[in-house]
Amino acid sequence: MARALEGVRILDMTHVQSGPTCTQLLAWFGADVIKVERPGVGDATRGQLRDVPDVDSLYFTMLNHNKRSITLNTKSEHGKQIFTDLIKHCDVMVENFAPGALDRMGFTWERIQQINPRMIYASVKGFGPGPYQDCKVYENVAQCTGGSASTTGFDDGPPLVTGAQIGDSGTGLHLALGIVTALFHRERSGRGQRVTCAMQDGVLNLCRVKLRDQQRLKHGPLREYPQYPNGTFSDSVPRAGNASGGGQPGWALRCAPGGPDDYIYVIIQPPGWEPLMKVIGREDLIEHPDWATPAARLPKLDQCFALIEEWTKTKTKFEVMETLNPLNVPCGPILSMKELAEEPSLRETGTVVEVDHPTRGAYLSVGNPIKLSDSPSEVKRSPLLGEHTDEVLAELGYSQADIATAKAEGAV
Ligand SMILES: CC(C)(COP(=O)(O)OP(=O)(O)OC[C@H]1O[C@@H](n2cnc3c(N)ncnc32)[C@H](O)[C@@H]1OP(=O)(O)O)[C@@H](O)C(=O)NCCC(=O)NCCS
Repeated sequence: MARALEGVRILDMTHVQSGPTCTQLLAWFGADVIKVERPGVGDATRGQLRDVPDVDSLYFTMLNHNKRSITLNTKSEHGKQIFTDLIKHCDVMVENFAPGALDRMGFTWERIQQINPRMIYASVKGFGPGPYQDCKVYENVAQCTGGSASTTGFDDGPPLVTGAQIGDSGTGLHLALGIVTALFHRERSGRGQRVTCAMQDGVLNLCRVKLRDQQRLKHGPLREYPQYPNGTFSDSVPRAGNASGGGQPGWALRCAPGGPDDYIYVIIQPPGWEPLMKVIGREDLIEHPDWATPAARLPKLDQCFALIEEWTKTKTKFEVMETLNPLNVPCGPILSMKELAEEPSLRETGTVVEVDHPTRGAYLSVGNPIKLSDSPSEVKRSPLLGEHTDEVLAELGYSQADIATAKAEGAV
């Protein structure tokens, strides 16, 4: 069965997290991803947060599946020649260096178009054009500058970053969509184009509902926020704690036996009120005028969830899930990473996979979360540094003698 992006060649100049997540997705869909790394050094993440000495870190292995690795010094003259050949050979180039790095190497967009007019050149940067365009950016900086941190956390606490890597992996996802869109367009136009994603923009896109709320604020308080009606609102969107972002109230409630992840998130929709009250033994509140309608409950949602928590505290989160789901009360247990790693259904769908690695041995990874019916993904281990240098150079037409010269000069 042909994989969806079979035959598409990606010149992968990415490093750290944002770019690699993008090219890993394309590799899972069948593209040939050739990762270019600095000789002797490689992607910095190979050595970051190492758990096993002298072995590529999980940080690296989990972001670079299904790729080939070639080492190349793109600043040396010989390296530039090889790089030029790679640009001719590939369909897409992806990079997430600090602003201007490729230009400084001599490979501007104009130059790349001259070398290969069909090339799609895709970049992640921290910011788009504007006051911060030259800044280097990492995940949490993007979360803070894209509106996520100011709207995450509790009202009386500091801004919080989230564990979901919405700046890096989120922007990688955005970029992947830009690339396949440009590939689709190239089918008709015959020309490549420039694709850029700023991490600030990607985070803001994911915080769309908060910009919605910013505008709603002009017309009155945000009634689904925990600040209503007893707290105060300023002129910008406050942190909403665990309140639900949609129109229905929700909160994370404690469960037995009381460990750090023994919580369940429960949403109260009008049809769920009666069955919920029956389950918790408060039939008296089903028709009670102070509780029966969403409008009556709104000013005292904290009390409302406290009542339900009295019951959830006596059950495990899984018991609560089993009880409430059949009653059409939307809820979800707070699952720990340990629980997710051990969840059999995620193993069965390939969302969590065990991968073997020659120097590390078996490790767990997140597989492709996007499932195509005719083009299933197979997760293959990440490459060792420069593992495919000779192979790729030979595909470019270099002889064994040429390869030996390039190595002797330190170009590869
Ligand atoms: C992530 C980031 C902060 C890291 O910064 P950094 O470690 O200083 O790395 P840089 O991107 O500046 O690259 C370092 C240098 O290595 C050089 N380099 C990289 N690969 C090379 C290669 N194969 N051969 C020769 N030189 C190479 C670059 O050209 C650059 O040189 P320059 O500074 O002389 O132009 C920065 O790359 C960045 O802001 N990227 C865009 C936003 C982003 O993706 N951030 C998320 C990361 S998860």
